[in-house]
Amino acid sequence: MISKNIQELKAAFEAELKLVDLNASTEIDAIRVKYLGKKGLVTGLLKQMGTLSDADRPLFGKKVNDLKTFVTSEIERALSVAKEAALNQKLESGFIDYTLPADGIGAGSTHPLYDVREEIIDFFAQMGFEVDFGRDIETDWYNFEALNTPPDHPSRDMQDTFYVADKVMLRTHTSGTQIHYMETHQPPFRMIAPGHVFRVDNDATHAPMFQQCEGLIVDENISFAQLKGVLQVFMNKLFGPHVKTRFRPSFFPFTEPSAEMDVSCVFCDGSGCRRCKGTGWMEIGGCGSVDPNVFKNCGIDPEKYTGFAFGFGLDRIAMLKHAIPEIGLLTGNDQRFLSQF
Ligand code: DAH
Repeated sequence: MISKNIQELKAAFEAELKLVDLNASTEIDAIRVKYLGKKGLVTGLLKQMGTLSDADRPLFGKKVNDLKTFVTSEIERALSVAKEAALNQKLESGFIDYTLPADGIGAGSTHPLYDVREEIIDFFAQMGFEVDFGRDIETDWYNFEALNTPPDHPSRDMQDTFYVADKVMLRTHTSGTQIHYMETHQPPFRMIAPGHVFRVDNDATHAPMFQQCEGLIVDENISFAQLKGVLQVFMNKLFGPHVKTRFRPSFFPFTEPSAEMDVSCVFCDGSGCRRCKGTGWMEIGGCGSVDPNVFKNCGIDPEKYTGFAFGFGLDRIAMLKHAIPEIGLLTGNDQRFLSQF
């Protein structure tokens, strides 16, 4: 009895579809609703399932589902025939205006972080620096130990570092690339190491992933004065001829002496504003003379060679260049933000 119902419904559907004008997709759609809609006939059969005995239900269920699949595919077929017929009709009868403008093809633009990275690489390449991109995953040796970072240093903490395995981590800074480089090169050399770094950090000015660029020069008689000179010219390249730099004493385990470099506020030219918190200066990065222990760890003679190193954040530079208020905008992929560049 029940399977007779199903057969009858199938026959009725086929008959109805045969009669429909295959050019009229609205009519086909009406049939779809009649059979497959929420209150449709096939849907109605499915609702009857609950009234059946346990013995009858599986077979009935299978038959109704087969019917549903059949009806769905027949309707799809009819719709595609209708669509093609409509197109052919338009092409035969209609006039196509080839002079109408096409839909615009939007050209992409380069990402502000990419631009900053390219600018930095160009600048240092012209000064004879080699570029080493390093690797995103480092061992404790490269990220900390060889950089003279003591075992109890807070940056090693799980709260600050993303560990991948025991003593293996997403690098927290690009400084480890210095070590790889010094292990495989003998001075004199100069190199930069741009790349992504990762920290357990997230607010308006800190992101869990951001980009840094490291720099390193090693030769005989390299002095702090040369470091200051290179960074001053670099800041002028990035922010214009008027910016000044200053170096404040600081501490990093891998440099001695160490300094923090500030640039005169790029928004107020040093007179003091909201963005520089009235100080007239903005922090750019760290630097210093390479610690002799780091040289020893890499097999370079600290009696013969000296060097300087520096590291700064690319995101921060992009934010200063374009007055971007939040670091998250740089990686958020929001078209409204990106299309401004
Ligand atoms: N690695 C430091 C950081 O992530 C930045 C840095 C400071 C790099 C001093 C250096 C340096 O090469 O000499 O905060």
